[in-house]
Amino acid sequence: MPEQYLKVYQQQVENTLQRMMETVFPPQAGSAVARAAAYSLLGGGKRVRGVLTLAASALVCGDAAPAESYAAALEMLHCYSLIHDDLPCMDNDDFRRGRPSCHKAFGETTALLAGDALLTAAFETLCRNENGGEKNARAVQLLAHAAGPHGMVLGQELDLAAEETPVDEAGLLLIHTNKTGRLLRAAVGLGAIAAGASGAQAAALDGYAERIGMVFQIVDDILDVTATSEELGKPIGSDAENNKTTFVTLKGIDAARAEAERLTREACVLLQNTFGKSADFLCNYAQKLVERSN
Ligand code: IPE
Ligand code: IPE
Ligand code: MG
Ligand code: MG
Ligand code: MG
Repeated sequence: MPEQYLKVYQQQVENTLQRMMETVFPPQAGSAVARAAAYSLLGGGKRVRGVLTLAASALVCGDAAPAESYAAALEMLHCYSLIHDDLPCMDNDDFRRGRPSCHKAFGETTALLAGDALLTAAFETLCRNENGGEKNARAVQLLAHAAGPHGMVLGQELDLAAEETPVDEAGLLLIHTNKTGRLLRAAVGLGAIAAGASGAQAAALDGYAERIGMVFQIVDDILDVTATSEELGKPIGSDAENNKTTFVTLKGIDAARAEAERLTREACVLLQNTFGKSADFLCNYAQKLVERSN
């Protein structure tokens, strides 16, 4: 893949996050919550969701810029989900992005509030652009729906419930679709809104992201077993420790990987059918995400 495009998009996400944090979320000298939010948000991360938002916009209108604030908002919201996911009452993980998790560095109360603050700041960030009220209202609705009790929050609820009552494959698909898939779909959906995509363009992007979202969590489940904690920047073996049902426990590593590769091929065909060769970046990126080691 044109590696430099990925670097450019990642840098564009970082720059926008820096800018937005200074305006929407100025770290007040006395606020541990603001410092904790900045610690977690600006401390690494692959920026997959932000990159997808920018790349989807560029694919549709040839320009990633209209999607910058949407990309930053989604990364804020994702970061909140990670801070809460690591808390002792959830996955109880002490490391994230190669550093102590937010609650290890700042304490549980501050981490909880830093997550709340990032969630709220995400919606203000969504509206800080020149896209106009109509597009921004659609963006707010899309992100709220994807992240809330019919989306990511539901996925996290089902994920935790499944620690007590094991689920079958259909149950696992429901968890993964919601806890991870919905934010990845929101990523391209926000890019499509920013760029003024047609219904057919938005549908192709959504079909791509639906598959990529599932693949992303399958690979996350595999890496929890096969990677090192240095590579991942987060603890390995966390799923087994928490008695999670994952693609690996249900199907084994080889079948899980085969399923991830099949879905990735499907995702690319869908996108190419609508966008032709211009879909190359997103197809190559999907391939890179299956092969990732962190
Ligand atoms: C981790 O997401 C949580 C999942 C949904 C699997 P990422 O692997 O995108 O985490 P960062 O943002 O790169 O740290
Ligand atoms: C987390 O899934 C999904 C969300 C945070 C919404 P995981 O619990 O598998 O993510 P990691 O492995 O801790 O990053
Ligand atoms: Mg979890
Ligand atoms: Mg976790
Ligand atoms: Mg995981």
